[in-house]
Amino acid sequence: MTPLIIAHRGASAEAPENTLAAFELAHRQQADMIELDLQPTADGEIVVFHDHDTARWNGRADPVARLTLAEMRRLDIGGERVPTLAETLDWARSVAMPLNLELKKPGMAVRCAQLLREFRMTEQVIVSSFYEQALRELRAVDVAIARGYLMGVRSYRPDIRWREFWPFGALRRIAATAWHPYHGLPGLSWVLPRARRAGYQVNVWTVDDPVQLRQLAELGASGIITNVPAAARAALAQRMAG
Ligand code: G3P
Ligand code: MG
Repeated sequence: MTPLIIAHRGASAEAPENTLAAFELAHRQQADMIELDLQPTADGEIVVFHDHDTARWNGRADPVARLTLAEMRRLDIGGERVPTLAETLDWARSVAMPLNLELKKPGMAVRCAQLLREFRMTEQVIVSSFYEQALRELRAVDVAIARGYLMGVRSYRPDIRWREFWPFGALRRIAATAWHPYHGLPGLSWVLPRARRAGYQVNVWTVDDPVQLRQLAELGASGIITNVPAAARAALAQRMAG
């Protein structure tokens, strides 16, 4: 099986990350799925945005949680503007593009599930998070929405190190559909096939190197989250041909 090509923040190597332009390009490049980051604004909207604050875009470290949607809209993201989750779901529905929605914090599950139902996208998404709390909340709201446990936190805490080496307890706790490990996790090549055999999808992030892409395909990764969907597709096709 060839892994799904999941465009990280859209086709973010060639278009401004987490914008509709990057999502449309990923679609044109025939990505199988698009990964994007979600955060709440001060006025209760959900926006597609990665960083905790706006420094990278306007030089001011304003936390997203303190800004309104109107203020977020004023940001210039490489000539594009910040989309809402609703706009993104509307677009994804219109082109039948599956999404991987990353919850950047707990507290958004109710609103997210509401929007997914409104746009009839509950079955076309995997909702992922580094925060177990966020995934628990989602499960409580709608158990049928697929959940992916993201791992790869920069930490020396032994409990986190252990969980990332042997994720099965954590995956069971939230009845995850998928495991989303960082490609550099120690022991990944050993545990990845075991996670697949245990019935989990395994979507690895974020991999742009063709050799590594092919190695992960050999190990049985279900999906690869990449900034370069077109190049990733070409790299995997080469594997099939070779
Ligand atoms: O979902 C995979 C990846 O996006 C997690 O890290 O920081 O790029 O959102 P980050
Ligand atoms: Mg992300």
